[in-house]
Amino acid sequence: MKPVRHFLRLQDLSRAELQGLLSRAIELKRMLRAGEAYTPFAQRTLAMIFEKSSTRTRVSFETGMAQFGGHALFLSPRDTQLGRGESIEDTARVLSRMVDLIMIRTFSHAGLEAFASASRVPVINGLSDNHHPCQLLADLMTAQELWGGLQGRKVAFIGDGANNMARSWMEAAQILDFELRIGAPEGFHPSSFAQQENGTHTRIYTDARAAVNGVDMIVTDVWTSMGQEAEDGERHARFASFQVNAQLLAQARPGAVFMHCLPAHRGEEVTAEVIDGAHSLVWEEAENRLHAQKALMEFLAGFGPLAKQGV
Ligand code: CP
Ligand code: NVA
Repeated sequence: MKPVRHFLRLQDLSRAELQGLLSRAIELKRMLRAGEAYTPFAQRTLAMIFEKSSTRTRVSFETGMAQFGGHALFLSPRDTQLGRGESIEDTARVLSRMVDLIMIRTFSHAGLEAFASASRVPVINGLSDNHHPCQLLADLMTAQELWGGLQGRKVAFIGDGANNMARSWMEAAQILDFELRIGAPEGFHPSSFAQQENGTHTRIYTDARAAVNGVDMIVTDVWTSMGQEAEDGERHARFASFQVNAQLLAQARPGAVFMHCLPAHRGEEVTAEVIDGAHSLVWEEAENRLHAQKALMEFLAGFGPLAKQGV
């Protein structure tokens, strides 16, 4: 029996698989726009466990599964036995005997790994405290559509360099071979473990202006991630000089673009003139969650040209 493929972090894909998946996502987007029906998941089910809030992740997975002819189940700890103490491993064992794929958004990455190791079907990380790989699929797809890829480009991630998005960008830079600069205050840099594991293509800056100097793309994210609400006041004070505004954008190369995974807080990590301006790709990124995750589900389930080619 073939081992089950999970997608818990970006580096679970090889470079060839990632590139193939991004191309396939662009093809699935074209097919959807052309009105071509494609329903490889008829009679199949995706379970989605959300231990944290979500708009994009829930809607994109649920819509993608419906377009594929399958069904998606929304499960929250509030109304499943998970919330009453049933172990994540037991939940994984039970769900994976009924459904074909499982997506989970949770806090602990170690808990997610424990869940995956008890599952008989592929598990997808819909965001953990350490990684947000599905967002990177959409962001990389957006860059692929714009530039044909990020090879040879410079990307600056400004804000919380220790959060899940920064970590997934570090993995992307390493797999796809582009330069990532992280501009973050002291105390909010990637952990030494993350730097050791995925830091070969990442340079750390404590000054936002130096980090964005001449880059092709500026990326940011909320200053306070889900689960960190108690630190909100301190984080606002520490990140004040890391706002992505027109002055900061002017330091990047002319024609540079802006990305944000959303939800955004205008006036905090980004100003309205940047996120709502001509350089912003945020709505393309959000839409591409749908197409990129359809390519991912197809690949993990073993359907579609990518799985058949065995890249
Ligand atoms: N970017 C993202 O994951 O959005 P949601 O939290 O709305 O799913
Ligand atoms: N870093 C953010 C991403 C939200 C999509 C969080 O974890 O809340």
